[in-house]
Amino acid sequence: VPAAPLDPARDPAARSLLAELGSEHTADLRLGGVAAIDLVREFGSPLYAYDAALLRRRARAVQAALGPRIGLLHSIKANPSLALASILRACGCGAEIASLGELHLALAAGHAAKDLRFAGPGKTDAELHAAVHAGLERFHVESADELLALQQVAAASGRRLEVAVRVNLTQSQRAGRMRMAGSGARFGVDEAEAAALLESCRAQDHVAVIGLHSYAGTQNFDAERFVAGATDLCALAERLRRDTGWPLPELNFGGGFGSPAFVGDPQFDLDAAAAGLAELRAKHDGAGRSFWVELGRYLTGPCGVYLCTVVRKKQSAGRTHLALDGGMHHAAAAAGIGSVLRSAPLLVHATRLQAQADEEVAVGGPLCTPLDRFGDALLLPHSETGDLLAVLGAGAYGLSYSPHSFLSHPTPAEALVEDGKARVIRARGEVQDVLRGQRP
Ligand SMILES: Cc1ncc(COP(=O)(O)O)c(C=O)c1O
Repeated sequence: VPAAPLDPARDPAARSLLAELGSEHTADLRLGGVAAIDLVREFGSPLYAYDAALLRRRARAVQAALGPRIGLLHSIKANPSLALASILRACGCGAEIASLGELHLALAAGHAAKDLRFAGPGKTDAELHAAVHAGLERFHVESADELLALQQVAAASGRRLEVAVRVNLTQSQRAGRMRMAGSGARFGVDEAEAAALLESCRAQDHVAVIGLHSYAGTQNFDAERFVAGATDLCALAERLRRDTGWPLPELNFGGGFGSPAFVGDPQFDLDAAAAGLAELRAKHDGAGRSFWVELGRYLTGPCGVYLCTVVRKKQSAGRTHLALDGGMHHAAAAAGIGSVLRSAPLLVHATRLQAQADEEVAVGGPLCTPLDRFGDALLLPHSETGDLLAVLGAGAYGLSYSPHSFLSHPTPAEALVEDGKARVIRARGEVQDVLRGQRP
């Protein structure tokens, strides 16, 4: 947590998010033209709220930048909301899933099972069986062990499955704040092992390796690094084609495009990434070849805000403290969980957006842990008990990434604003949820 007081609302990252929400010049935070305070009056606090039109704009901007020959998959893990997933599917995004729960959600959102890709390093045999039974045909395989298991599942069910091998590229993939490749990793097959893995598939009929996949890490703000990783993946595909004869028509470059969530976060240069990928595509294109990017955060992050109310205000040791009704149990990332160095989240006063930030405050939630805090020295416009604050850029890795069982508060509702109207897309939890499934 930064020692010097920071005014998140003046930060360029917050200004750009406010502009995307249409609230750059308004006194109060709005989503799709509806005031956040009205959303909370209608649906209660704390609340996650999303702007449907912004989500569509983000998806279309990525699709337009990538062009028709590079497909866009929605990584459902970033926000497992049925409403958001349905909007993205209707925009023409495919989907990448990483659990049977996400499979269930993707099907409910209208995806065809045969078009989904099942990723993740720890899929159990039972999950592979269930996925095949549900009609899945494409898997991202992360180890030789998993490939063997998938071959057995395919043989037992008499199905022919397609596999893209997730490769843990050694050199250029050190991008992203949360890295998932590079030196030895639970994710993907080491680059040096890829050829042997392809060879091991030659003798059997049920699983066809159709491509390569790589994913370096999330919150990558460096488009050049992303393109460098994609370049390495293409080079590996060419090498493997030459050495083993496998055509590898499908190349999936992964995702991780950064989306501002903290004070000082830069913007991801979508056009630069798209230009680099376009060059690669032109060089490696061919009949039957397909190229993919899979994104979560970049699509949903800016569309969502987490709204919470000041419950108590007090002085302690010369410092003003605000205690909110929301916190780390709903918005863990904003509270710095998962970050090595804590940064200030983009926390703004939702009804005094343009007001002078003249009060230095420490802001935290209702949990009985010092970890439940959004900042120790934030500059906000003067706040009173009952005022509404908002975490901007909160539409990805929010509620589902948070320890929402801790202290047994009900989960917040989620609301979607579309065509000037708001509706609940996930009901608020109830106090009684604490007993769900429990036996004395
Ligand atoms: C394999 C894979 N693909 C895609 C994503 C989505 O990443 P992001 O939301 O940063 O785009 C993740 C996130 O962990 C992932 O593990």
